[in-house]
Amino acid sequence: MKKAIVSAMLLAVVMVACTPKASPSVTEATIPTESAVSKSSATISAGQTIFTTKCTRCHGQKPVEKWTYEELRPVLASMVKKAKLDKTETEQVSAYVYSRAKK
Ligand code: HEC
Repeated sequence: MKKAIVSAMLLAVVMVACTPKASPSVTEATIPTESAVSKSSATISAGQTIFTTKCTRCHGQKPVEKWTYEELRPVLASMVKKAKLDKTETEQVSAYVYSRAKK
């Protein structure tokens, strides 16, 4: 019985350890669509903090108002991966970018 539990736990650990390559792969689908992106001011302001800190490690604040949100979604997907943002941070920064994007 104990052995079964240990095996199950070991299996779980192995599965978790082996998935990271596949699971955090951020694709365009990870970025909320225009209709799904949060419009809450609290989320937008949390996103602004991420945009001005984590998103400026490699470059300055990008002029996102030059592009529409739909044009930015694939860019965001690759940038979120570069900045190693988690799901919540991704939603927040997307909300901020949406709020500033060309309408
Ligand atoms: C690991 C480095 C890195 C991080 C972190 C990063 N970027 Fe970038 N980003 C780049 C590079 C490299 C380019 C392409 C060269 C350039 O435009 O400076 C780029 C370009 C861009 C562009 C312009 C795309 C275009 O078509 O010209 C935008 C917008 C952008 N990043 C937004 C972001 C946002 C938002 C974040 C935070 C979620 C972020 N970046 C985090 C490296 C990074």
